[in-house]
Formats: sequence, structure tokens, C-alpha cells
Amino acid sequence: MHGSTFLTILLALPLLGLSSPLSIRWNHHYYDSAYHTLGCPSTTKPHASHREQLSVLNNFANLVYVQHNVAQGYNTYVAKDFINHAPEISGNGTAIAIATQTPMLIGGHVNLQRVFVGSDENDVDYGTVHFQGFSVRFGEGDIAGIFKFVGTCVVEYWDVAQGVDRNSTKNPIAYFK
Ligand SMILES: *[C@@H]1O[C@H](CO)[C@@H](O)[C@H](O)[C@H]1NC(C)=O
Repeated sequence: MHGSTFLTILLALPLLGLSSPLSIRWNHHYYDSAYHTLGCPSTTKPHASHREQLSVLNNFANLVYVQHNVAQGYNTYVAKDFINHAPEISGNGTAIAIATQTPMLIGGHVNLQRVFVGSDENDVDYGTVHFQGFSVRFGEGDIAGIFKFVGTCVVEYWDVAQGVDRNSTKNPIAYFK
């Protein structure tokens, strides 16, 4: 190999390293390994449009929060070992989420406020469910859940929640109106 050819290859390597993730994405061969390593169920797929993700999130929210078919919702749409940041749940994965959320939901009810999906500037897909919850244990709550998607599979979750103070007079349209 000529010295100059070798040098050219050597110089080109970092450039390839930088540009390949973008070109892979543009060629639709991009594959997020979380889909496999976190155990996405066979009812999901690794690539999806925002419309498809929106349909998933609406189905999930109705199954889990409204109908209390908690296990069915998680087992159909969520990775078995999904990463869970919810402070009320003590670990990752669908098993503990189902076991913790089912008793929190039973006996109460939820009014969905808004469900939407989109991408951040790195093309990572997220969805949000904002809802009014009435729980036997916690009373009325204002809750937003944030779901990270790979394709139609939920791989990570965060939430923020606050109790509803009906005596607050500061804002006549507080919370849900
Ligand atoms: C959940 O997964 C995250 C990311 O892999 C990890 O940092 C965290 O320790 C896990 N939580 C538990 C309770 O294992």
C-alpha cells in the first residue's frame, strides 16, 4: 500500500465514523438495539410512523388507565425490561409496573386529557399522556406520563404527578378546564 493511500484511509476513518449514523438513518436501516435488549414484545415493530405510535399510545392509555386492563396494555406495547423512572414504582420492567399500578387504578377512574407523540432534535420518538385521575388511595390527581418509543414499542417512561387542590382560587381554569 502506498503511504499516501494509507494516510487517506486513516484520515477518512473519523469522517466515516461521524457520518455513518446519519446515512444509516437516511437509508432506513437504522436500528435501535434497545428494541431487542429490553425485550420488546412480538406485538410491536422496530420502525413506525408517528401516526402508528399515536394509535399505540391511545390504545395503551385506554387499556391501562381507563379500562384497567393493565397487564394487557403493558404486555402488548411495552418492553419487558423497559426503563422506569416513575417514583411510585420501585424498578424497571412490566412485571413490577403491572403489580404496582393495578391496585392504584382499581376502584378509581381516569379522564384522558390529551395524548400526543413527536420527536426530539435527535429523532428520538416520545409520546405524552396527560390525564385527570381519581384514585381511592390518592384522591384527585393531575398526571403527565412521558413514553419513549422505539417503533411501536415503549422502552422508557417518566411521569410527573400532583394532587388537585380544588380550594385554589388563583386560577379559575387550573388543571384541566
Ligand atoms: C433500571 O435500568 C436503568 C438503566 O439500565 C438502571 O440504571 C437502573 O439501575 C435500573 N433500575 C433497577 C432498580 O434495577
